[in-house]
Amino acid sequence: MDLPFDGAISAFFNDTAPDDVRNAIKRAEKGDIITPDYPYSDRMPRKAYEKDLAALQIELVKMQTWAKESGARVAIVFEGRDAAGKGGTIKRFRENLNPRGARVVALSKPTETEATQWYFQRYVDHLPSAGEITFFDRSWYNRAVVEHVFGFCTPEQRMHFFTQVPDFEKMLVDDGIKLFKIWLNVGRGEQLRRFLSRESDPLKQWKLSWIDVEGLKRWDAYSDAIRETFAKSHSDHAPWTVIRSDDKRRARINAIRSVLTQLDYARKDVKALGKTDPKVCGGPDIWD
Ligand code: ADP
Ligand code: AMP
Ligand code: MLT
Repeated sequence: MDLPFDGAISAFFNDTAPDDVRNAIKRAEKGDIITPDYPYSDRMPRKAYEKDLAALQIELVKMQTWAKESGARVAIVFEGRDAAGKGGTIKRFRENLNPRGARVVALSKPTETEATQWYFQRYVDHLPSAGEITFFDRSWYNRAVVEHVFGFCTPEQRMHFFTQVPDFEKMLVDDGIKLFKIWLNVGRGEQLRRFLSRESDPLKQWKLSWIDVEGLKRWDAYSDAIRETFAKSHSDHAPWTVIRSDDKRRARINAIRSVLTQLDYARKDVKALGKTDPKVCGGPDIWD
C-alpha cells in the first residue's frame, strides 16, 4: 500500500531529524517516554489510569447534569502542536457524556467568505448555549501559530489578532461563559514518533496532512510562535493551562481534573476528583 506523501515522515526521520531525536526514537521500546526532561521515566500504569479515568468520568457526568440544570455554558479550547493529543483528550472527556450538549467544534480552514469576516466571527457561532459544553479542537489561536508559521495570514493580521484576543476572551468570561484554554505540549521526538506511527497505520493515516509533514521542518518557528502566544494571551481572566502530553495517560487525567477542579458543580466529590500534578500540569512556565 502506498504511504501518504510517499513516506515523507520516514524520509524526514532517516535524513533530516536531529541525531538526538532519531537516536531516542530508535532506542525506545513501546511505552518508553523519550522526551529528555519529562519528569517521569515511565508512562502512568494502565490500571491506575483506568481507575482514575473512571472516577473522573463520573464527575464529568455530574458536571454535565449541573450545566443542564443551572444553564451554565462551558467552552474548552484545546491547542497544541500536531499530534499533541488534542483529539484523544477530547474523546476521553466526552466518552460518557450526552453528546447532545457536549459538542466538538473542529473547523476547517476559513472559506473565501469567512476570510472576509471578522476573524473571530465563525467561532462565535459555535460558542455554548445554556447547558452546553463545547470542545474546540483548535480554535481562534490558529491565527497566532499555524497560520503564522505557514504564512496563511499577514504579520499585521496576526498583530491585530493579539490586540483583540484579550478583549474578546474578556467579553466571553464577563458574559458568564466558563472558558478554559488548554495547551497540550509534546516533545520533538515524541511528536515524530507519533507521526511515524500514523504513517504506518491505515487507521491513522487520515490524521496526517501536508501541514504535519511540512511542519516537521518548522519546529523552531512553531516554538517562537507559541512562546509569543503565551506572552500575549495568558491573562488573569483567561489563563492558559499547559499540560505536558508526552504521556497521553497523565495528560488526559490532568486535563479533566484541571477543568473539573475549577467548576462548582453539584454533588462534587473532591476526593474522587483528586489533584492535578504540578509536574505535568501548570501555566506557561512549564512550557519550553
Ligand atoms: P489538523 O491538525 O486539524 O489535523 P492540519 O494539521 O492539516 O489539521 O492543519 C492545521 C490547521 O491549519 C487546521 O485548523 C487548518 O484548518 C488550518 N489551515 C490549513 N490550511 C489553512 C489555510 N490555507 N489558511 C488558514 N488555515 C489553514
Ligand atoms: P496510540 O495513539 O496510542 O496508538 O500511540 C501513538 C504513538 O504514541 C505510538 O508511537 C505510541 O508508542 C505512543 N504512545 C501511545 N500511548 C502513549 C502514552 N500513554 N504515552 C506516550 N506515548 C504513547
Ligand atoms: C491530536 O490528536 O494530536 C490532534 O488533535 C490531531 C493532530 O493535529 O494531528
